[in-house]
Amino acid sequence: MTKKTTRMALALGLAFGAAMGFQGPAQAQANRAEVLHWWTSGGESAAVKELANAYTKAGGTWVDAAIAGGEQARAAAVNRMVGGTPPTAAQFNTSKQFLDLIDQGMLANVDVVAAQNHWDQILPAPILNSIRIKGHFYAVPVDIHMPAWFWYSKAAFAKAGIKDEPKSADEFFADLDKLKAAGLVPLAFGGQPWQEKITFYAWLAHVGGPDMYMKLYRDKDVNLPGTPQFKALLASFKKLHNYVDAGSPNRNWNDATAMVISGKAGVQVMGDWAKGEFATAHQTAGKEFGCFPGFGPKSPYLVAGDVFVFPKNADPSQVKSQQLLATVFTSPATQVAFSNKKGSIPIRTDVDVKGLDLCAQQGVTIMKDVSRQLPTPEMLISPDLEGSLQDVITKFWNTNESVDDAAKAIAAALKNG
Ligand code: GAL
Repeated sequence: MTKKTTRMALALGLAFGAAMGFQGPAQAQANRAEVLHWWTSGGESAAVKELANAYTKAGGTWVDAAIAGGEQARAAAVNRMVGGTPPTAAQFNTSKQFLDLIDQGMLANVDVVAAQNHWDQILPAPILNSIRIKGHFYAVPVDIHMPAWFWYSKAAFAKAGIKDEPKSADEFFADLDKLKAAGLVPLAFGGQPWQEKITFYAWLAHVGGPDMYMKLYRDKDVNLPGTPQFKALLASFKKLHNYVDAGSPNRNWNDATAMVISGKAGVQVMGDWAKGEFATAHQTAGKEFGCFPGFGPKSPYLVAGDVFVFPKNADPSQVKSQQLLATVFTSPATQVAFSNKKGSIPIRTDVDVKGLDLCAQQGVTIMKDVSRQLPTPEMLISPDLEGSLQDVITKFWNTNESVDDAAKAIAAALKNG
């Protein structure tokens, strides 16, 4: 849905809802909450159960509305809101994805809960900047994810004779060659647009560097794509394609993770939600698999994550459920239990993280160094621009489009905003 049609659809929905004296469905159980999300993999399901259990323990009634796929789930949430039958809460990324809904007056704020729990003091800046709009808190953050980790099978690395984690792109390509020579799938990959997109994010941040990354996503510098440095980055990104297997088109991300878990593939570049799959397979970081958040000791750390928004609801019991959800989701105990299963790190800096895995410990330490933090692109660009750039990267990855043409297409997407 483009921005314009979304706005029109939202406005129509508002008028329809008001005309029909929308009161929202009768609430059979106390604190009933229908929660719409896209967490359907093994690890994700185990994690969302932690949220559900904590909410039930707090006296709530959890109604699970899982829809596979982020884009699909977000579209379903917007359609339900426009149609006047909103869920109690809906998952979005920590991003600009829900700004339109705020502008159209479709979301309730949770200022009361934010004030009671001092969110302004316990949340890192990128998260705070994404959920507090014009002074009001329109979303509850539930995790901090880093979309650009490298996950590798220790068995595969041993079989390929790889002793150390690569410290540069050149070393990484050399390792991929060794994995190929050992008869393994070097790079486990899911050929879906959003995965191609985040692989490009990772490569741009880790190989292009923070300056190039911010010139593109923060400054939207239309002259950047035509530079030799950016074109070299595009060429290097496309070189990764030589190391994926023929089965990668349309593979789900967690099926690619399963290839690393089984040792069939060497490495996957993916967000740390992949750890939830290793955990579900009873594998331990540092034992069966390894992780590194980039190349070298000062690699950039992309800050991303998930929030839940609360569609406006005339039914006071739904408002009560929304505030209970926001309180439960951000409590220290829920944050640790959820992070352990989700592979994320807690949104609050005041919880005991000793029980988290090796990779999460690395992440928590890095998050203390603000100079390494880079906001994920969805925090910097509009959903429309994100979609246009995703289309360019997907075409470049899947066709023999030249670097020059891909660079021109990126410049055009930036120009059209
Ligand atoms: C991301 C989300 C993660 C993870 C991933 C794959 O957008 O932030 O929580 O679940 O999608 O589904």
